Amino acid sequence: MNILFYATYSNQEEFLNTLRKKFKNDKVYTITDNVDFSNIDVAMVWNLPNNIFKKLVNLRVIFSIGAGVDHILKLSNIRNIPIIRVKDPAMRLRMYNHVLSQILIFQLKLKIYDEAQRKKIWMNERYTPLNNELTIGIMGLGYIGKFVALKIKKLGYNVIGFKRNNLNRSTALEIFQKNSLNKFIKKSDVIVSILPDTKNTNNFINTNFLKKMKKSSLLVNIGRGSVINEMDLVNHIKNNPDFYASLDVFAKEPLMKKHKFWSNKNITITPHVAAITDHESSISYLYNRFIEFKKNKKIKSDVDIKIGY
Ligand code: OXD
Repeated sequence: MNILFYATYSNQEEFLNTLRKKFKNDKVYTITDNVDFSNIDVAMVWNLPNNIFKKLVNLRVIFSIGAGVDHILKLSNIRNIPIIRVKDPAMRLRMYNHVLSQILIFQLKLKIYDEAQRKKIWMNERYTPLNNELTIGIMGLGYIGKFVALKIKKLGYNVIGFKRNNLNRSTALEIFQKNSLNKFIKKSDVIVSILPDTKNTNNFINTNFLKKMKKSSLLVNIGRGSVINEMDLVNHIKNNPDFYASLDVFAKEPLMKKHKFWSNKNITITPHVAAITDHESSISYLYNRFIEFKKNKKIKSDVDIKIGY
């Protein structure tokens, strides 16, 4: 089969080399190869430009080489092409590590001690809650969110979940839905958003949402930046000095130098690295799904285009 690889990763060359080794029985092209785009059967992409996509008139399946598919759904006229996303155990484990680290920094008040250190202040002891005294609310309970939630629960935290769409699978978590969102927000000491970028999640975390959160709480965003109204967050922190945010994703990346987040001492910034793409394991996932497609000549899409993930 003819595969087109396109990515805007800083280490895409390395990714491509590993991909070519693994897919040695098929042809892997890039847009700089002399390729007839109408012969491409399969695209493996991250941020494919629309003008290239339009040329892939005989495309049969499109793989996201990351977990998110928003970059694919933005393409115009995606038709009924099945979309497959990476579900990588290494990626969700990294996400869990990242979330746990941010919970602990908040729980143990490490940002406060860090700031004191910079000012050479020997700070008095402060009460730090135990795991079972904290409620962690996870928004978005897909492949990554559910894993993160259940692993955190095992550490003795109270963990609750929020899911926008109806839940048909049972989980060991207490789940809140749209009609009980307020309860979910009010109960949580830490809210972790793993929500995707869809028209329904855009600016979902805005002033109205933030003012229902506990005065002393933490918001972690490892999903998509568009979910948070960034100006609303800056204003909320101004009025709530014990409110913290740990952000790995932003409305516009890279974060602009003049962005207000950089100098806000209540905000931790990580540059979209909560879970880097693990080449070996994600390519191995892509390969298995590709072989499934090759064998059956069809594959069920991982994405419901109407819902947007
Ligand atoms: C992804 C990401 O979706 O890195 O994989 O954001």
